[in-house]
Amino acid sequence: MMNKFQKFEYSNDDRGVTPFETFQRYSNEKQQTSIKIAEIINSFRTHPVSLLDVGAGDGLLTQLYLSKIESVPQKITLIEPSVDLINKLRLNLSQFDGLSTINILNERFQEYATDQKFDVIIASHVPFTGDTGMETLPSIYMKLLSLLDYNGVLILIQRANDDIHSFREKFKSILNGRIYNSYAINDAQNVFGNVVADDPLNHITIYHASSELLFPKDNQHDRIAIIEFLLNTKWNQIQRDVKAQINDYLAVRNNRLGQSDGILVFSQEIENPPPNREGGVSERS
Ligand SMILES: C[S@@+](CC[C@H](N)C(=O)[O-])C[C@H]1O[C@@H](n2cnc3c(N)ncnc32)[C@H](O)[C@@H]1O
Repeated sequence: MMNKFQKFEYSNDDRGVTPFETFQRYSNEKQQTSIKIAEIINSFRTHPVSLLDVGAGDGLLTQLYLSKIESVPQKITLIEPSVDLINKLRLNLSQFDGLSTINILNERFQEYATDQKFDVIIASHVPFTGDTGMETLPSIYMKLLSLLDYNGVLILIQRANDDIHSFREKFKSILNGRIYNSYAINDAQNVFGNVVADDPLNHITIYHASSELLFPKDNQHDRIAIIEFLLNTKWNQIQRDVKAQINDYLAVRNNRLGQSDGILVFSQEIENPPPNREGGVSERS
């Protein structure tokens, strides 16, 4: 069933699996990125009491990083607009039921209204721009910042300029008939930099987490689901010559594409700064 938000890549196919989940089965991205997220949360001040995860999907990433942090927050709020993913999200988070109060909201972040503030806010790979552009990003970033508690940390994750980024830009441009610019971490960084006040107490750090995506050769269903997820286009709507180009592109790369997540971490004045944390923007591996 499709709700008014739901895009097909986050909706169940005829096997009850979303293309997004199929993509995850052939990639170690969530494993690698969750390690970095946990390191970041563990390096901050006291243990977080409240956490907001925006666009949590099926909860795999959330489950992985929560399993790695030193103390699971008492209050966890998860926002996910896809009806099909929300049931899996509930299931994936069930192991934390006794430890935390878990609040799952089936809506878009734009509609979320609360007076609560959070110690940690995470928005990972949320397609806030859709295919339309970046005009709405400043207001979304301002809303994220407004929900951050004093001394809180905001973690924004987007793809860096990796192989998947090149794949999407190349083939979405062909499919759309115009140049397609995929929204990446450097775009997030630019827009975010314009939104936050120029204050020496602000800290913005960019981290990276590397991983790999394997396109299966012997499972056509899953291979197509991954391509559909990356290009937001149904395989049967792609012209035959473009399908051949996609297969050639992947064949010369041995059906493997490198991935790199860019992780933007924003915090304000912290009580017990770990060594080497300074104001301004810095890059970490
Ligand atoms: C690529 S998945 C990422 C899931 C998870 N955060 C991760 O990194 O593995 C993007 C998720 O964002 C959700 N989403 C899309 N637009 C959204 C919006 N406006 N507000 C909140 N979530 C949104 C989608 O339903 C989907 O579950």
